Amino acid sequence: MIHPTQPKMLDSAALRQVFPILNQQINGHPLAFLDSAASSQRPQQVIDALSDYAQRYHANVHRGVYQLSEAATYAYEQAREKVARFINATCAEEIVFTRNTTEAVNLVAYAWGDAHLHTGDHILLSIMEHHSNIVPWQMLAQRRGAVLDYMPLDNKGRLRLDTLDTLLTERTKIVAVTHQSNVLGTVNPVQELARRAHAVGAVLLLDGAQSVPHSADQCADAGGRLCGLQWAQNVWPHRNRGAVGAAGAASSDAPVSGRRLDDQCG
Ligand SMILES: Cc1ncc(COP(=O)(O)O)c(C=O)c1O
Repeated sequence: MIHPTQPKMLDSAALRQVFPILNQQINGHPLAFLDSAASSQRPQQVIDALSDYAQRYHANVHRGVYQLSEAATYAYEQAREKVARFINATCAEEIVFTRNTTEAVNLVAYAWGDAHLHTGDHILLSIMEHHSNIVPWQMLAQRRGAVLDYMPLDNKGRLRLDTLDTLLTERTKIVAVTHQSNVLGTVNPVQELARRAHAVGAVLLLDGAQSVPHSADQCADAGGRLCGLQWAQNVWPHRNRGAVGAAGAASSDAPVSGRRLDDQCG
């Protein structure tokens, strides 16, 4: 006998218990917070971890040779390991913490872009990008004399992958697209994009600002030479916290650390 699988119901009451901020009434109604795409609320575990850090071992990370500093450094590096596991990166060294997604894209544009882009090279974006994943590439194109191309959408808000046949060529050095659109909610076919980009020798930068809490593992699954960009808006201790992960990349393919960002834009 075949048992049809029941769709899993979301237990909103149990979920509410984990987020203390929801435990209040506003204008006489239980709080329903609908702006998570911009700033999501923190669960008790995150609040506890932050408070524990502040109360027990807040100190300079990587700068002190005393016990508290070593404890803080250990916790910091453990977080890097956890993020690496979360996005399926090959090792923690591939994770570079940044202030936010905008800084992460700027870091790649400055560090990778200035080193690898030359006059006449192409950068492929899509027209559904957040301005944080447009302006750094416009500035890079100006600095390096590169050309920007934009993938269009169909009338359902999906990427027109058929246009890749003409837009993606051996002159394309980087494809920078969002994993999930903050405006349309569209989830882009990451693996297909990675396959197509890598086939012409381009790298793929994925803006994971909206998608990483839902589908983090896909970043690394997209394969080698992926410059993955992660930002856990969901439950992250600070709203503005980002990371660049060169998931599945040989580090020489995506050397993004150790750069100053003098003119950030986005
Ligand atoms: C898809 C996407 N990319 C980039 C950003 C910019 O993020 P940040 O404020 O972390 O720089 C956002 C912010 O909401 C976003 O939704």
